[in-house]
Amino acid sequence: MNTRTTLKINENGHLTIGGCDAVDLAKSFGTPLYVMDEQYIRDMCRVYRDVIANLYGGNGLVLYASKAFSCMAIYKIVEQEKVGVDVVSGGELYTAVKAGFPADKIYMHGNNKLHSELEYALACGVGTIVVDAYSELDVLDAMAAERGKIQDILLRINPGVEAHTHHFIQTAKTDSKFGFSVSDGTADKITVYALQKKHVRLRGYHCHIGSQIFEKESFRLAADKMMAFMAEMKQKYSFIADKLNLGGGYGIWYTEEDAKVSVPQYAQYLEAVIEEIKAKAKEYSLQEPFLLIEPGRSIVGEAGITLYTVGAIKEIPGVKKYVAVDGGMFDNPRYALYQAKYTALLANRAAEKATEVVSIAGKCCESGDIVCADVSLPKAETGDILAVLSTGAYNYSMASNYNRNLIPPVVLAKDGKAEYIVRPQSYDDLIRNDVIPPRLQS
Ligand code: LLP
Repeated sequence: MNTRTTLKINENGHLTIGGCDAVDLAKSFGTPLYVMDEQYIRDMCRVYRDVIANLYGGNGLVLYASKAFSCMAIYKIVEQEKVGVDVVSGGELYTAVKAGFPADKIYMHGNNKLHSELEYALACGVGTIVVDAYSELDVLDAMAAERGKIQDILLRINPGVEAHTHHFIQTAKTDSKFGFSVSDGTADKITVYALQKKHVRLRGYHCHIGSQIFEKESFRLAADKMMAFMAEMKQKYSFIADKLNLGGGYGIWYTEEDAKVSVPQYAQYLEAVIEEIKAKAKEYSLQEPFLLIEPGRSIVGEAGITLYTVGAIKEIPGVKKYVAVDGGMFDNPRYALYQAKYTALLANRAAEKATEVVSIAGKCCESGDIVCADVSLPKAETGDILAVLSTGAYNYSMASNYNRNLIPPVVLAKDGKAEYIVRPQSYDDLIRNDVIPPRLQS
């Protein structure tokens, strides 16, 4: 599955998503606008869920990493697809809980969880907390004791596999603010420490080796290293980990560069991992652990597009042409942050061939405010509707009100109908929490 199966071009030459004409969407809802294809999200949940059901006897759970895109409706959709969630902040937890998401299927992450966040997680009955610090273990143990409960936890471990898109490396020394390393013995030590605690119950381990990864072998290797570590913990401390969470990271299609290497075969990533876990369980005489994975980007990334209206167009002779849109780094900071690459097209002339290479500029007062650099487009004109593809992950979730621009609304498209799942902001929203102290009021 990839973007090209969810997007089509209709008889008017317009781009469609979820059966909706993108030009009509731009007219009805305005731009900039995030559009999410509901069916795509559901299909991706099912791809992962089915592999666990068919190849692993259902002994596992897919967790949607909601940092990729968090709003109340998404928690409803993934709940209906029998998928759990991973949250990384009190805010994500609050959003999930307000959407009625079952707390026992929530896994709470964070390398520096606030006391208030841990209190809130315990009060909500969050199923599992993925612990990432000694101090967190101490605090959590004390808080659980106060409440007379025992909290299930996993420990975040660094297996020494670092993956970057199309390659991966094994590292002995891991420099990361996340997790405890297997190679330097800290993963072993935190295990011993956690096992001594009376009000937390260590259920197993978590790792996450990176994001936007296409290399199947890196996931397999991480599974291999985690199983070896679990075998070691059993042998040394008779500790049997019954849960293994291998994080997310499955890469998605942004540009033809990605497609050339491989159109992501999501099921195959998980098949490789399951094969490895089964083999290692046999080799080490371990029970097969309950398997968790945390895909974020691959569930929502290709489901989303962003629609903009083309405004000013500026050609700098011999240098480049800028096509400015009514959005920018406030709705998509990924170019500014990572020089991320995207594919763009004119939604109102979607069948036209690209004739020039331009940079899509945003409207923020900052030269680095580019939405995508060097994209091929037909000759764009003011008023065209520009669609940027694969923006469903880490766009809305990383949006800001920089320059007091309004964060665009999100609509959910399905079967030719679209409705808001995040309403538009207003200027009043921008000043809602502003205060002018009396002494400034003269
Ligand atoms: N689990 C953990 C513990 C994670 O840290 C992450 C992502 C995921 C799961 C989900 O990974 P995914 O399947 O989405 O790759 N803002 C960056 C991405 C940061 C990812 C952080 N962690 C971007 O826009 O590319």
